[in-house]
Amino acid sequence: MYEQLKSLLYLAEPEWAHEHTLLLAQGLSHTKTGPWLADFLWGYEDDRLSVEIGGLVFPNPVGLAAGFDKDGVAIGLLEAVGFGAIEVGTLTPKPQLGNPQPRLFRLVEDKALINRMGFNNGGIDRFVNRVSGQTRKRPLGVNLGKNKDTPNEQAGADYCYGLEKTYDLGDYFTINISSPNTVGLRALQEEKSLLPLLQEITAKRDHLARFSGKRKPLWLKVAPDLSAKEMEVICQIALSLKIDALVVSNTTLERPALADLNRSQTGGLSGAPLTAKADQALDWAFGYTHGQIPLVGVGGIMNAAQALRKFELGASFVQVYSGLIFSGPGLVKQIKEGLIASLNRERLPRLPKRVV
Ligand SMILES: Cc1cc2nc3c(=O)[nH]c(=O)nc-3n(C[C@H](O)[C@H](O)[C@H](O)COP(=O)(O)O)c2cc1C
Repeated sequence: MYEQLKSLLYLAEPEWAHEHTLLLAQGLSHTKTGPWLADFLWGYEDDRLSVEIGGLVFPNPVGLAAGFDKDGVAIGLLEAVGFGAIEVGTLTPKPQLGNPQPRLFRLVEDKALINRMGFNNGGIDRFVNRVSGQTRKRPLGVNLGKNKDTPNEQAGADYCYGLEKTYDLGDYFTINISSPNTVGLRALQEEKSLLPLLQEITAKRDHLARFSGKRKPLWLKVAPDLSAKEMEVICQIALSLKIDALVVSNTTLERPALADLNRSQTGGLSGAPLTAKADQALDWAFGYTHGQIPLVGVGGIMNAAQALRKFELGASFVQVYSGLIFSGPGLVKQIKEGLIASLNRERLPRLPKRVV
């Protein structure tokens, strides 16, 4: 069914198609039939898929990656699709228009996307107003960023603002320092910036935890374009500050051999051509954290086998975005079925964990 819908959607400009799909999902989120139908079509649960990360229990380890529903307009319907968690954002303190359009490109032959959205979002306060009072069926992740015009030296204040405002609403928080579309953001991954930044953010979280009586997990999202040495430094910092999970990874600035004419567009590349690079980054992250920090594998998961590979490399959780554009929401069920099949094949009682 998605194949027919896809041929229609692909006639439209990519951002228009995305916005209108999201609008439809938003409308359906507020009905009884929409979530029921999504659950009927794609729902698939099994207790063996349940995972715990940093004290937070997820019904399954297949999450929606950040950027798909930045403002959290369609969480209800997305939950019904069967994700183990929905990650909204990236949200910034002030609303932002993002970069001029066009800024999202399909590379159909390559099963890839290039985007240079630039954190277009309605801002944290609007998100809080929208989502407050809603009931959740799944853990909600809030992906936090800084405004484009906030200098890197003051970035901590932006992340802390987001954390404070959304602390009651989110179940975990992802610190995004790896989007390639905000000038200078990735420099926050360097040791001299990252250590004080994360010290400030973890201190804020600890304060909020004392105040509310709830310690909520902080995840850190990194780029796939790091050298092994850079990944090692980030992992050491994450270990020293007890970051709850590393999300590996965001989109890449690299351009492997691509067939589609859109290949020369600037922005972050995601989807099939990212798989190998994101897997390499995950492998390094596991090596440098020795299994002591849960890893979230993201990047180029287009089918169940590629998700399984992330678990073999040491991930405890995976997230998808581009795969949904090419395979539709059925991909989530497909991955979960693939995981259960692998458990049955290997007669394992739970998801595979990599041995150091
Ligand atoms: C159009 C688009 C917008 C994105 N926006 C964000 C974002 O706002 N914040 C973020 O952390 N990642 C963002 N991402 C990155 C994804 O969350 C994910 O890390 C990346 O696309 C790799 O996964 P994939 O190959 O499954 O797409 C975006 C990706 C795309 C394609």
